[in-house]
This record gives sequence, structure tokens and C-alpha cells, in this order.
Amino acid sequence: MNGQLVQPEQKLKRDADGFLRRTVWDLFSLKSRTIVITGGARGIGLAFAFAIAEVGGNVAILDALDEPHEHFYELQNRFKDLKFKSYKVDVTKYDVLEKAFDQVVKDFGRIDGLVTAAGICTDEPFLERKPESVARCININVLGTYYAAQLAAAQMARQEPTDFNQRGGSMVFIASIAAYVASKGQNTSDYCASKGAVVSLCKALGVELAAMGIRVNSISPGYTMTDMTLDLCDRMPHLAHIMTTEPPMRRMADRTDLKGLVVYLLSEASAYQTSEDILVTGGIHAGRLL
Ligand SMILES: NC(=O)c1ccc[n+]([C@@H]2O[C@H](COP(=O)([O-])OP(=O)(O)OC[C@H]3O[C@@H](n4cnc5c(N)ncnc54)[C@H](O)[C@@H]3O)[C@@H](O)[C@H]2O)c1
Repeated sequence: MNGQLVQPEQKLKRDADGFLRRTVWDLFSLKSRTIVITGGARGIGLAFAFAIAEVGGNVAILDALDEPHEHFYELQNRFKDLKFKSYKVDVTKYDVLEKAFDQVVKDFGRIDGLVTAAGICTDEPFLERKPESVARCININVLGTYYAAQLAAAQMARQEPTDFNQRGGSMVFIASIAAYVASKGQNTSDYCASKGAVVSLCKALGVELAAMGIRVNSISPGYTMTDMTLDLCDRMPHLAHIMTTEPPMRRMADRTDLKGLVVYLLSEASAYQTSEDILVTGGIHAGRLL
């Protein structure tokens, strides 16, 4: 079928007692797994590194920053038995990214999960946008996600099974509420388009990679407090007002609000879930207060 991989039909396995064998704690564990996080040197990606470490996972960070945020060193201090490494990489440069993935496999031995958090958001009216600026946003947010997913999937498909990961792996793309609704008070046409593409990519890959045991899901956060959004609020105080009053819950998300979800999606707790986008917005996607 056009080179498409389809798993052979499985006979019904009668195992009505299967649920008795593993506890919720077992299901959410990432013990011994290696997770790659693009854009993990600060912001949401770095908070996810803590979440992963807190359930026993090792983390490789790929980011364009020269140096990760100081919280990265706190991560290393807090979890001395786990492995963390940060690599300076631009996710839009395929050759460089490929070398970085090879290095991660050399350093960690394998890749069990991927989180794509590298992203940018430029605020500029549509009619004033320059082609180079639009291309940069699409390159980082969409192609960066695409390339990282491709390189991670190639490794997940070829690596040997282990006791903690029999097959494949799990990917979590960071999309955005902006994939669904325009951002109030901001001119972010390319950003919204890029995040829509990320949600669509997740759906397509979840289907295409299912036969390899690779699951692909995405998270669409609403306004989340990070250095990026705090900087925006400092420069444009009206945005601080919008971000705190527009959600029905009338506050921005703290990165803590996303930590449980990323662990769920990376772990066996979500073993039967793929091609899904989960919105965490304080309710904005359902309706806005103001
Ligand atoms: N903060 C929010 O309110 C919010 C809401 C919805 C979605 N998101 C998405 O979450 C993700 C993380 O956002 P954040 O708020 O943590 O922002 P952030 O700026 O704090 O983090 C983004 C990281 O991506 C890295 N990065 C940018 N371009 C790169 C490139 N070419 N190669 C490698 N790394 C690159 C940056 O260096 C940075 O460390 C982004 O994709 C963003 O669009 C954020």
C-alpha cells in the first residue's frame, strides 16, 4: 500500500484482568527513558524537563540559546542520579539537527520521547510583514517540529526493545490556542498559521507512525507565564490585562498547569491515545469572558 506500514491484524487477546497488573504510578513513570526537548533551554520546555525528571526520566535539550536558563543547573543539582545535557542547535538547520540527534543517541543510548517546544511569535500587522520574517516563524515552528519528529521517529523505529520501552515512543508537539482562535490584541497571523500546521502534523503522524508503536499528540496552551510572555507584558501592558482577564478562569497559566499533561502524554498512561490535541487554556477555547 504505497509503502505505508500497516500492522498485521491481531487476534483478540483475552485479558480482562490486564488492568490489575500496573498501578497508576507504574503507568506515569518515565524511569530510564530518554526524552529530547527542543526549545528546552528555558520557558515551557524547561519546565517540562523538571516534570520528566520528577518521574524518573533523562532529558536532552536542543536549543538555539548559547546557555540554558539557570534553572537547568538547578535541575542537574536536584536530580543527581539522572542525566541531563544541553546542546546548542538551531532546529531549522536539518544537517545540524541530525548531528545533534546522533550525538544524543551516543550520549544517552536511545530516544524514547520527544517534546517540541522550540517556537517564536512575532507581533506585527499582516500588511507590514516581510517575507523573511514570515519564513523564519514557519521554519522554526513548523519545519523545526517536522524535522525533529522525523529524526526522533527514525531512532525510535530502529532501536532495540528494553524492559521499560518495548517499542516505539511518544511525541508531544507544543501547538497553541492560536491554532484555533486569533489572539486578542496581537497581530500574529504567521504564528496562528504555524500552530494550525503543528496540530495537523500531529494528526497525520499519529496515524502514519502508529504501526511503529510511535504515538504523536500535541498540547495547545493558552496564555502561559514564561520569560517570553512576561517580556511581552512588560513591553505592552495592555497584553498583561488581556492575558489575565480574558480566560474564564481569570488568570494566566503557570507552567505547573502543564507539567502533569506532558508526563501523561509521554508515558504509558496515554498508551491508547494518539493524534490528539489537548487544549489547556483556562477555558478561552470554549468562550471568552470579555
Ligand atoms: N507562553 C505562552 O503563553 C505560550 C502559549 C501557547 C504556546 N506556546 C508555545 O510554547 C512553546 C514555548 O514557548 P515559551 O513561552 O516557553 O517561549 P520561550 O521563548 O521561553 O522558549 C522558546 C525556546 O525556543 C528556543 N528556540 C527558538 N528558536 C529556536 C531555533 N531556531 N532552534 C532551537 N531553539 C529555538 C528559544 O531559544 C527558547 O529557549 C513555543 O512553541 C510557543 O509558541 C507558548
